Amino acid sequence: MGVQIAPSLLAADFARLADAAATVPNADWLHVDVMDNHFVPNLTVGLPVVEALGKATDLPLDCHLMIEEPDRWAPAYAEAGAAGVTFHLEAAQAPVRLARELRRLGARAGLALRPATPVEPCGDLLPELDLLLVMTVEPGFGGQPFLDACLPKVRRARELVSRSGLDIWVQVDGGVTTETIERCAEAGADVFVAGSAVYGDEEPAAAVQRLRALASKERPS
Ligand code: DX5
Ligand code: ZN
Repeated sequence: MGVQIAPSLLAADFARLADAAATVPNADWLHVDVMDNHFVPNLTVGLPVVEALGKATDLPLDCHLMIEEPDRWAPAYAEAGAAGVTFHLEAAQAPVRLARELRRLGARAGLALRPATPVEPCGDLLPELDLLLVMTVEPGFGGQPFLDACLPKVRRARELVSRSGLDIWVQVDGGVTTETIERCAEAGADVFVAGSAVYGDEEPAAAVQRLRALASKERPS
């Protein structure tokens, strides 16, 4: 799988989410940030909006759950039709059981790491996963500056995945722009979430194309 771009609806107009989805037909995924005001100090959308969005777009939904108790709440996002469901390691009680449940329900299982969470302990969990999300900002808000300090972890994540021989995607999320995407791709990321860099642009589809072109220079498919 080559480079994939996932525009984050967090930076779109929440009163016009279906329109925002329609502006990026060249995207690979639509990234939906679910926040519960507990795991992160912000509140966004939940299951009813994800269900409605699923009916309003053909793009697959990549749900990033920044919530407490994902063991309890995450499977419903897979049942609602999300093609990818990513939960945070820091919040999960039983990540293996949860990842298996997500896969059983037909979703790709993703595991997300906050900037201070090391990736090495995830090595043994890789067979249960389809995606590792290395956060490149503290989760909770869009438009934050990219944390270069997270790049070595992206590199280590890619090394772990390569060594495993498994087809697991390495996603980066937070501060991904035309300024930073090449560094992420060079470090080994292949799925790029971008909120403000896409929806802050007057032409979101052109922004997706620019991001893809820059990342593809570092990771030719
Ligand atoms: C932040 C979210 C991100 C956010 C990224 O916690 O997980 O998906 O939308 O926004 P930008 O690309 O603006 O940093
Ligand atoms: Zn996100």
